[in-house]
Amino acid sequence: MRSSAIAVSGLRKAYGDKVVLDGIDFDVAAGSVFSLLGPNGAGKTTTVNVLTTLMKADAGTVRIAGHDVASATKEVRRVIGVTGQFAAVDELLSGRENLRLMADLKRVRPGDQVVTELLERFDLVESADKMAATYSGGMRRKLDLAMTLVGAPQIIFLDEPTTGLDPRSRRTMWGIVRELVADGTTIFLTTQYLEEADQLADRIAVLDQGHLVAQGTPEELKRQVPGTHVRLRFADLYELDEAARVLAGATRDDEELILRVPSDGESKSLLGLLSRLDEHMINAKEFSVHTPDLDDVFLALTGRAGTERTERTERTSEEAIAR
Ligand SMILES: Nc1ncnc2c1ncn2[C@@H]1O[C@H](COP(=O)(O)OP(=O)(O)O)[C@@H](O)[C@H]1O
Ligand SMILES: [Mg+2]
Repeated sequence: MRSSAIAVSGLRKAYGDKVVLDGIDFDVAAGSVFSLLGPNGAGKTTTVNVLTTLMKADAGTVRIAGHDVASATKEVRRVIGVTGQFAAVDELLSGRENLRLMADLKRVRPGDQVVTELLERFDLVESADKMAATYSGGMRRKLDLAMTLVGAPQIIFLDEPTTGLDPRSRRTMWGIVRELVADGTTIFLTTQYLEEADQLADRIAVLDQGHLVAQGTPEELKRQVPGTHVRLRFADLYELDEAARVLAGATRDDEELILRVPSDGESKSLLGLLSRLDEHMINAKEFSVHTPDLDDVFLALTGRAGTERTERTERTSEEAIAR
């Protein structure tokens, strides 16, 4: 069995009488990506702050690489790296100087070599000697993450690393996260973007009103909501009528000439469905299997839409262009 990099049990935290974390439990396997998903104000940053020793919990236990955050603060700090929601970059220093400062703080040697390697890895060589104040948002995030990587921490906390980034920078960040995981690093990532969690995480926990309302792999979460179905589009109403007669349990959209047939999405059922159409000499112009996505899951679990729709739409259109 893989060991736990992060083990959280009965974690509680309130600000005054406002309870933010009302007893949450989870476990993150070493070398995996765990994503804490939740809307603004859900308590993601609070969780990161407690897990990284920046804030004390009111109750519960947190172990990082086996060390208790309450009693072994030093040991915990030695194995973690944190990239906060707001970049910790010193704007008046250059990228190189920021990294050098971090290498000195962490007593990483040889400092120059580590700094050079990170500048190359993050594609910041050209701007290395410019003041960070002149960097774009995406470059600043990259520099911030590079600073987190000084000293190669085993466990990295990324608090909303891509919020506000343009689609290209977001993709770059995703690539870097994937590289880190390939090297065996454990990643704890918070996000408001369902798609980001879906893309990166081995396991996801959904935080809502102080509780984890769901946990599992992206696939497990998606299976929790009903709704996998086959979508068939027909050339005319006559074919739609025929198909609706043949396929029991289907719902129809006469305007769009679409039939939705509930299905488990397995190849055997799909083959059966297609054979039935064929036996009755019915041809569908389009055929697709729709699996619920994390948006459907979030909506079902919390009764609200989870993401900032505009960002999602922008990203999707840019992806479409990229293809
Ligand atoms: N230092 C604080 N004092 C009082 N309330 C706070 C403090 N920090 C956060 N909160 C409140 O706690 C809730 C959770 O905040 P936060 O952990 O920052 O959520 P998230 O990172 O998911 O957006 C919010 O309602 C926020 O206003
Ligand atoms: Mg936050």
